[in-house]
Amino acid sequence: MRYRLFEARSIAYCGLVALAPLICPAMCRLAAQTAPAVNPAAQQPVPPLLNDAPVQLANPGAAEKEHQREMDLLGIEELRPGTEKDANWDEAKANVYPKLPDPLVERSGKRVTTAAEWWKVRRPEIQEEYDREVLGRTPANLPKVTWEVVSATPEKMGDIAVVTKRLAGHVDNSSYPQIAVTIDATLTTPANARGPVPVIMELAFAGEFKASLVRPISATTSGALGDYGQTWEQQVLAKGWGFVVLSPTSYQADDGAGMTEGIIGLMNKGQPRGPEDWGGLKAWAWGASRLLDYLETDKSVNAKRVGIEGHSRMGKAALVAMAYDQRFTVLYSSSSGEGGAKLYRHIYGEPLSHIESKYYYWMGANLMKYAGPLTPGDLPVDNHELIALCAPRPVFIGAGTSLQNEPAKPGDGWADARGMFLAGVGAGPVYKLLGKKDLGTAEFPTMESAVIDGDLGFRQHSGGHTPAPNWPTFLTFASKYLNGPEVSRAASETWLNGK
Ligand code: GCU
Repeated sequence: MRYRLFEARSIAYCGLVALAPLICPAMCRLAAQTAPAVNPAAQQPVPPLLNDAPVQLANPGAAEKEHQREMDLLGIEELRPGTEKDANWDEAKANVYPKLPDPLVERSGKRVTTAAEWWKVRRPEIQEEYDREVLGRTPANLPKVTWEVVSATPEKMGDIAVVTKRLAGHVDNSSYPQIAVTIDATLTTPANARGPVPVIMELAFAGEFKASLVRPISATTSGALGDYGQTWEQQVLAKGWGFVVLSPTSYQADDGAGMTEGIIGLMNKGQPRGPEDWGGLKAWAWGASRLLDYLETDKSVNAKRVGIEGHSRMGKAALVAMAYDQRFTVLYSSSSGEGGAKLYRHIYGEPLSHIESKYYYWMGANLMKYAGPLTPGDLPVDNHELIALCAPRPVFIGAGTSLQNEPAKPGDGWADARGMFLAGVGAGPVYKLLGKKDLGTAEFPTMESAVIDGDLGFRQHSGGHTPAPNWPTFLTFASKYLNGPEVSRAASETWLNGK
């Protein structure tokens, strides 16, 4: 199981399907050797997914056709080359655009000096620029989601008695009944808790979500790759908390061919999107918010203490969810890289042109301009400001080594640890303005040293492209908030007013 998961993620990461088993054989072997023996007879069949991603994969070339249509729409003739070979791997050459947009200077040129100006003027300005140029606009008239508890199963995870609920969010499709959309998720809480518990929501890859449904439950390892001891779910339960696993691809396919389906397709009544329409990251984040709506109604959950986590593309989506929904308490964005917690202007590892060639559908169509005629230096925003949209709520940024991924040498250079750290540094002034603590240093920390004294956290582990080694550090960071006083905007303002 672990081997399969590791392989699946390597494939996603490297985009080299055929070469995947060759890429990190040492890690894979280690994972295979240390995986717990599972008695196949004890395994029950995987319950069917409520709603497999509704992509017309039978329609070959649809993703490429949609890409071309969006380029034509924007009048773009070609994009800059964006393969791994075109990427910069030399830190000395990364700082091509040293001037970052200042999160505390309004469009008018006025400097923001009070929390009120941040909330009233500057934050909406940044959000508007993200909506227009980067992520696309979330539609205003989104349909209602009705939640169903499909099953509630008492079971044991390690020594801990838990209850796992299978949840289905039925999206009202009366506006266009040809497209059915269901949000697929599970919620696991300790059976013997004395009251509502904090939970951590993972935005899972399709394969991980499927794996998390396998029983016996102790054999499931969603999010844990290789041998890093306890799974994240076990670590979370050991704290007395619960966990939620969301399948974002159940309601929006991870495929450009799926843009006329899922929630984006439903909103466009099966028609292709416009240049300012939302992309996949926003759609995935929307589902996380709807799941949070459900959590607010579940008595076993303390919905005022919900952490959110995602890795890689799901780390990007988790950051977007945290930035746009102020009800989430704390974020772990793992190896989110380009389009996530990394500066577009730090040119190392994955180039924007790679996202815009292959994964353009994650973003709003307009972002493509900056991978073609324009450059990342022309963007009105950069991702220190996406992190700043989360303030005053705490954000932990995780990464692996800065090495380029090579056979037998797993690296996370593609995700650009330093570019993510610098984005964390750049968000600092907004946290300070709101009475919170920044990273506390602008110096890139040594490998495996946890920077978690403030309300922004960072740690680079020495493994490859995996969230697992940073879970214990994240949970230490998150404990301050999930077990502590509220960190909402209102709480921050109360604190500031009392100063
Ligand atoms: C690709 C993509 C990254 C992404 C990763 C993943 O490598 O280029 O931007 O983070 O897939 O989600 O695994």
